[in-house]
Amino acid sequence: MGDGEVRWGVIGTGAIARRFVDGLPYVDGASLAGVWGRNRESAATFAATGVTIAESVEELLESEIDAVYVATLPDSHGAYSLAALEAGKAVLCEKPSMMRTEELERVLAVARTRGVLFMEAMKTPFYPVYRSLQRQLLEDPIGPVRFVRAGNSLANVAAAHSSWRLEAGGGGLMGIGVYQAFLAVSWMGEVLDVQALGRLSSGGVDAFATVQTLHANGFGQIFCGLDVAGPGDAVLAGERGYATIHGPWWNAARATVRYSDGRIVELEEAVVGGGLNYETEHFCGLLREGKVESPVMTHETSVQMMRVLDRARTALGVRFP
Ligand SMILES: NC(=O)c1ccc[n+]([C@@H]2O[C@H](COP(=O)([O-])OP(=O)(O)OC[C@H]3O[C@@H](n4cnc5c(N)ncnc54)[C@H](OP(=O)(O)O)[C@@H]3O)[C@@H](O)[C@H]2O)c1
Repeated sequence: MGDGEVRWGVIGTGAIARRFVDGLPYVDGASLAGVWGRNRESAATFAATGVTIAESVEELLESEIDAVYVATLPDSHGAYSLAALEAGKAVLCEKPSMMRTEELERVLAVARTRGVLFMEAMKTPFYPVYRSLQRQLLEDPIGPVRFVRAGNSLANVAAAHSSWRLEAGGGGLMGIGVYQAFLAVSWMGEVLDVQALGRLSSGGVDAFATVQTLHANGFGQIFCGLDVAGPGDAVLAGERGYATIHGPWWNAARATVRYSDGRIVELEEAVVGGGLNYETEHFCGLLREGKVESPVMTHETSVQMMRVLDRARTALGVRFP
């Protein structure tokens, strides 16, 4: 990272890896230095763009890269994150960070001991309109947020999609509920209790779930699913009003704040570059500053999110191998 340029290596060559790479040109001082994927076919489409394809993950980690984007499925996030951290490479790891809290804590301990940056790739808090909303609620508060209601349920998740695979860390909670968990945790803090109801697929993943969360500072109401078409907005409620992040709230472009005195503030900001570029920009800044943790997407936020998912899965009877 001699001249401040962050050279990225990508592990995994699926849909999100492609979106990450497509977003890199929108990030100042970031470039793609190498890719490793076990799937030779999808790796070849990256090779066609002229990027170096490593023969093995070890080769990628030994190459001249500064940061690794872990873009595989959740069951391998832990192993690849650990390998990268042990090699001294900063890690931006896709959501959900790990399979369970204990695994995440092991990875975070290595990141801290080694003094290497680790961040879960939670894109939403870096979107322009989300940041505008945070500023709005700071300058003209609705009071502390005491209730978060958020959902995202898709009706058309293909039978072949990894979300249906228990062993890969599938299920609506892991794939989708993680965003809602983020919202509740980041606005209301530590998770004290989780209740969940839901329906499991024949393969044992949660096909639909509704979850209630008790936090240090309020209550969350979350739903997520793979076979029901649900609305995708989010509400943050305080004593003096509430804010709606319009659907799809996790790819936020519009928000409305309604104050109890009748005022309405509309916020709208387009997403440019696909959306992953905003978190990548933030991550590159942290790396240049020598940080080991993001002040926005903190380690503790990831731990608390994972705790929501763990407890909800336990309540539903979803058991990863
Ligand atoms: N931030 C976002 O907006 C967003 C959106 C969608 C997904 N995601 C997250 O991104 C991650 C990947 O999702 P995706 O949609 O990109 O999935 P995908 O299209 O199925 O791609 C997954 C990639 O990881 C590879 N892979 C899977 N398990 C592996 C292992 N054990 N070792 C090596 N490579 C492995 C796959 O290779 P094969 O083809 O050989 O299986 C494939 O290249 C998930 O954690 C998901 O939750 C994030």
